[in-house]
Amino acid sequence: MEVKTSLLDNMIGVGDMVLLEPLNEDSFLENLRNRFDHNEIYTYIGSVVISVNPYRSLPIYTPDKVEEYRNRNFYELSPHIYALADEAYRSLRDQDKDQCILITGESGAGKTEASKLVMSYVAAVCGKGQEVNKVKEQLLQSNPVLEAFGNAKTVRNDNSSRFGKYMDIEFDFKGDPLGGVISNYLLEKSRVVKQPRGERNFHVFYQLLSGASDDTLKKLKLDRDFSKYNYLSLDSAVVNGLDDATNFRTVRNAMQIVGFMEAEVQSVLELVAAVLKLGNIEFKPESRCNGTDESRIKDKNDLKEMCELLGVEQSVLERAFSYRTVEAKMEKVSTTLNVAQAYYARDALAKNLYSRLFSWLVTRINESIKAQTKTRHKVMGVLDIYGFEIFEDNSFEQFIINYCNEKLQQIFIELTLREEQEEYVREGIEWTNIEYFNNAIICDLIENNQNGILAMLDEECLRPGTVTDETFLDKLNTICAEHQHFESRLSKNSKFLNDHSLPHNCFRIQHYAGKVLYRAEGFVDKNNDLLYRDLSQAMYKATHSLIKQLFPEGNPAKVNLKRPPTAGFQFKASVGTLMKNLQTKNPNYIRCVKPNDKKASHIFTESLVRHQVRYLGLMENVRVRRAGYAFRQIYEPCLERYKMLCKRTWPHWRGPAREGVEVLMADLPVPAEEFSFGRSKIFIRNPRTLFFLEERRRQCLQDLATLIQKIYRGWKCRSQFLLLKKSQIVVAAWYRRYAQQKKYQRIKSATTVVQSYTRGWQARKLLRELKYQKRCEEAVTTISAYWHGTQARRELRRLKEEARRKHAVAVIWAYWQGLKVRREYRKFFRANAGKKIYDFIIQRIMQKYFLGLKSTVPSMSPIDENWPARPYLFLDGVHTELRRMFHLWRCKKYRSQFTEEKKAVYEEKLEASEIFKDKKALYPSSVSQPFKGDYLEISKNPKYQKLNSAVDEKVLLADVVNKINRANGKGTARIFLLTKKSVVLADQKTGQVKASVPLPDLTSVSVSTQSDGFFALRLKEGSASAVKGDFLFSSEHLIEIITKLHRFGATAADREQLNVDISDEFLVQFKQDKVCVKFVQGAPKNGNSVSCKRKNNRLLEVSVPTTA
Ligand SMILES: Nc1ncnc2c1ncn2[C@@H]1O[C@H](COP(=O)(O)OP(=O)(O)OP(=O)(O)O)[C@@H](O)[C@H]1O
Ligand SMILES: [Mg+2]
Repeated sequence: MEVKTSLLDNMIGVGDMVLLEPLNEDSFLENLRNRFDHNEIYTYIGSVVISVNPYRSLPIYTPDKVEEYRNRNFYELSPHIYALADEAYRSLRDQDKDQCILITGESGAGKTEASKLVMSYVAAVCGKGQEVNKVKEQLLQSNPVLEAFGNAKTVRNDNSSRFGKYMDIEFDFKGDPLGGVISNYLLEKSRVVKQPRGERNFHVFYQLLSGASDDTLKKLKLDRDFSKYNYLSLDSAVVNGLDDATNFRTVRNAMQIVGFMEAEVQSVLELVAAVLKLGNIEFKPESRCNGTDESRIKDKNDLKEMCELLGVEQSVLERAFSYRTVEAKMEKVSTTLNVAQAYYARDALAKNLYSRLFSWLVTRINESIKAQTKTRHKVMGVLDIYGFEIFEDNSFEQFIINYCNEKLQQIFIELTLREEQEEYVREGIEWTNIEYFNNAIICDLIENNQNGILAMLDEECLRPGTVTDETFLDKLNTICAEHQHFESRLSKNSKFLNDHSLPHNCFRIQHYAGKVLYRAEGFVDKNNDLLYRDLSQAMYKATHSLIKQLFPEGNPAKVNLKRPPTAGFQFKASVGTLMKNLQTKNPNYIRCVKPNDKKASHIFTESLVRHQVRYLGLMENVRVRRAGYAFRQIYEPCLERYKMLCKRTWPHWRGPAREGVEVLMADLPVPAEEFSFGRSKIFIRNPRTLFFLEERRRQCLQDLATLIQKIYRGWKCRSQFLLLKKSQIVVAAWYRRYAQQKKYQRIKSATTVVQSYTRGWQARKLLRELKYQKRCEEAVTTISAYWHGTQARRELRRLKEEARRKHAVAVIWAYWQGLKVRREYRKFFRANAGKKIYDFIIQRIMQKYFLGLKSTVPSMSPIDENWPARPYLFLDGVHTELRRMFHLWRCKKYRSQFTEEKKAVYEEKLEASEIFKDKKALYPSSVSQPFKGDYLEISKNPKYQKLNSAVDEKVLLADVVNKINRANGKGTARIFLLTKKSVVLADQKTGQVKASVPLPDLTSVSVSTQSDGFFALRLKEGSASAVKGDFLFSSEHLIEIITKLHRFGATAADREQLNVDISDEFLVQFKQDKVCVKFVQGAPKNGNSVSCKRKNNRLLEVSVPTTA
């Protein structure tokens, strides 16, 4: 934030009186006036703030101002109450020092406003949060409640505090408010029953009557008209600028915020109403027969209503107003009250009721605002106590108030003047003692326990016998006569015997703030503060709970015959406690000055201010400040703060802090008398020097900041520059590449265009030439063609002509020759012509036949039966022969493709055909079946491995056949193997060789003509194999077996061939017998299979089913 003003800049007058030149009372006042005229109401004396009441609202308490003063040095900105509040709050928060803010000044000087400003500033700058805000709000809202009940309009102040208030605000370690405790001092309760001219009763009465709703008023049995109430003064019931009705609502709202229950508020209002009602109770005298006067209540209506409000029995109260009971040592004496006594009793009750209600309110507020946590608190106390009062007619209250102010002045003197001097001595600083007025002597005059005025007053009050104000004054005159601050006409001090300003019934005290004349009248009564016991007992009997609480002494069970402590005694005690409390805290002073008596703005009454300046001891305050040192600081923080001002101490000083500060100060252009080195602190005489240091420090910090900024900016700019440079190179490279690419593409396309134009031009030129050439050639060709055409046509015509001629010649010649021949051969022609024509025709027909056959010749397949039809009958023989030749030729062609194996197979097939064709009905069905030979795959099949090894030769045929039992004609399955040398029979299952017949032992093989598979192997008689006789078998591969036997049987036996008999009846040799095997055709009994049966010894019949 920008600093707008400081104690040195643009100051109106002098901001700190310590800097005032020349210093005297006139210049002091002139400076105050000058500043006041320019709306500068605050001025410092060192750390003390003088505040002159402006009596108008100034724009210096805005949230902006709060921000401006927040966390700033005290001397940094122009004087303000916020600067003091900030200083106090910060040293509370940061240095853990309890603070108190002592606000003094006379009535109307602005103490209460100052205390509220301090509180609102602290509330604004301290922590925030829901809970904290609630605490703050409660603390702030306690003010309107207490002001309503404790403030009143006086001639000096429209909102005069009629009680003393000390508020401790408690903070936690962070500086957040936790709660508070309010202490109240001596409410001016006499105001309840009587107000001086031009003044009002307490605000709350007027606020209630103006602001409460009709309904509320009805409940409280009140009338809105002020004039109906004796206790309300009427001449100044309405105050300018005070809106009682609105304030009533503010107060109710504040009570709610502070935490009052609705019922409590109601009770409070009932008590206020009861006080008003009480004031209306009037008494009249009634003579008794014994000649004494007795008082009677005039109109009981108000009494009745009041009793209803408080729940007091009317008769009890009525009696209490008529009698007074005195109890002494078991005795009770009742005396009647006269009218004056009854009025006294009434007023005493009213005053007590109200003052106890006020104390209860403070206690109740304290309950609400007290800190909830039990942790250690930091405390800031704000004291707003009534200021020094000098009226025309001063009584007990003024005496008490002024006593309190004496005590405060005492504290001020003790803490500022005395302590300051003591500190100089402690620190070993040379010090010329400043004379100041110590008011301890006045305090002693009042509070001394033996012969102090208060002690004597108490003594008088307690003394048996007749006690009056006069006896009290006499006592004072005797005891205090010699006291230099006590003055009285009747005292033995002859000085005052002729002092006519001093009436006989008065005494005068020379207070520190001036002389005050007190009238002794009422001192005893007020000090006694007597409330008849009958009344307190009547109040205790009330059903109203609050009333009962307020009068505990009325409890008959706790009758205390001891006199209650006097008002003076109580006040002295509470002031004593307050002083002790304040002494433990760090004091901050606000000294309020009232500029005029008219409560008007812009008026500065010099005499009035001069008087206040004097009694507030402000000049003394300045002198002490100036004679001493305005500023002091412990060496360590001082060195830490200013070390940058000297090269030797910056940035580090290694030695002791004091030496560092000495070096530092020696280095600075500050006169040596401006500072002194204490034991632990440096003392700076003049604030100007401090400002100088601060200014140098600020400049230095600025320079340092600039240096840091410079280096940082340099670094930042350099890095940015390098980055930019790097980026620029990249961008440039890309751009150049792009530009070159573009340029290249442009050049390339331009070149292509130029090239294409050139090529086009050249091509066109060439084309033109070629076209020309072509045209020339074409022309030449055309010409030559035409020429050649012409030539050719001419030649053709010539040749044609020649040919025609030749032809004509030939024709002619032929005709001629023909004619000649015809003429010559006419005689032969007819005999030979027929034969020649015939031959020619035959020749032509043959030619045509052969050429036709060429295109219609059938396919090369030997089995293709097709053959074109014969065109002429005479070609029949040729045609058949050609067919045969063609067939033979294509068979030969077909055969020539065969491999050796295939050839062998076909040879066997051919052999089979030679043996069986047209002889056996089975043959045709076998033609299409290939001769496989080894059906059992004997060499590969592991089952026949043994058999295979038993046979040496290569197996030509292996098949399973049925061996026909010679005895019964039934078949048994046998493996039939044929090798080049023998036939082997083996068991089908075991592969065991059953019989082996060498091929030479075979004589012939017999088969039937039919489609059966029977065959008989006929063996050579007498051979080893023929022992059991011939073999009869049946097989599915009969044709193949017989063919192979036929083929190899001959080769093995080295004979021409093995006979194959094909007949339906043949003989076989079974052992000794010759059996005829006969094949018959017929329907078989069991299905379509061949059956074999032994008919008799000689016949074996095989019936073969007829093939359909
Ligand atoms: N700083 C201020 N700015 C504006 N007006 C102010 C200021 N201080 C005081 N006043 C005015 O002066 C009046 C009296 O002030 P205040 O009530 O604070 O006096 P006081 O010192 O508390 O008097 P008392 O001792 O009678 O209570 C206020 O009602 C207000 O109108
Ligand atoms: Mg006040």
